Amino acid sequence: MGYNVNKRTVIITGASGGFGSELTKLFVLGHGCRVIGIGRSKEKMEALADELGGKKSKFKYLLFDVADREKWAKFAALLTEKNIIPDLLINNAGIMPRFEKFETEDGELAKRIIDTNLMSVIYGCEAMLPLLKKSKQGGIVNIASSAAFSPVAGTAVYSASKGAVKNFTMALCEEEESLYVGCVFPGFSKTDLFRDNNMTDNDFQFISGLGTDKKTVAEGIIRGMTAGKKLIVCGKDSYLMNAMSSVAPSPANALYSKIMKSSELEMFKDL
Ligand SMILES: NC(=O)c1ccc[n+]([C@@H]2O[C@H](COP(=O)([O-])OP(=O)(O)OC[C@H]3O[C@@H](n4cnc5c(N)ncnc54)[C@H](OP(=O)(O)O)[C@@H]3O)[C@@H](O)[C@H]2O)c1
Repeated sequence: MGYNVNKRTVIITGASGGFGSELTKLFVLGHGCRVIGIGRSKEKMEALADELGGKKSKFKYLLFDVADREKWAKFAALLTEKNIIPDLLINNAGIMPRFEKFETEDGELAKRIIDTNLMSVIYGCEAMLPLLKKSKQGGIVNIASSAAFSPVAGTAVYSASKGAVKNFTMALCEEEESLYVGCVFPGFSKTDLFRDNNMTDNDFQFISGLGTDKKTVAEGIIRGMTAGKKLIVCGKDSYLMNAMSSVAPSPANALYSKIMKSSELEMFKDL
């Protein structure tokens, strides 16, 4: 059954940038929703609020690290105290380090990736499930990645985190029959996610050419939810990775990795 996105109270992590900001604008301006954004940058949140113009009051934000379980518990207590029943949780916040071989990454970075990309999703669901179940239209949407279909060179820990988000969400789909639960698989999109890659114009051209504009990704997510999809694939590169990984996963991963290594792009130079 499809999810009716209109006039909902929506919690979006990582609302301060990329897909999160685009989703916030679409929900508030296009669907009459109230959005509570979670992130860490006050500046970015204020800039987003300004973009909402006359609908600014429909957007509130909290600044906390989504990898902090206690902060989620406090957030749930605050919502309860204020009698706010959220309808929808979108676990979108995530980080991606620069493309490099696992052998040159350290364990601290790996822990930060897993905490931010995976544990945040688990903590968010843990804290919000009891509240979402009080809504007549409860829903959870977790943002994974095409890396969950095809783990390529230079993304070992990131791909592990996103593969785990996919499986966690798919299991939740089967457990929580009273809620809408969906998992999103975006392909490349030009956002600040790649901030650690020292990208050149050529790198940006590659991502823009192969990838999908961030607003189009956000529109695709809402379309997928409205259609009641459990798996929402966004972008032609992600469709291709999904199709090829279900037919011939190892050759597909090898092919993408080979293309990246031979591309001579700055962002893939350490592969
Ligand atoms: N862009 C792509 O090509 C792509 C492809 C596949 C999947 N994805 C996934 O899509 C999601 C959104 O990424 P994006 O491309 O929109 O990246 P982005 O522009 O970097 O936005 C990510 C947001 O997450 C927030 N965030 C990061 N760590 C946080 C933390 N510990 N606590 C709270 N907030 C945190 C950041 O907010 P603050 O700066 O305020 O902390 C930032 O605004 C991520 O999960 C990413 O893995 C992206």
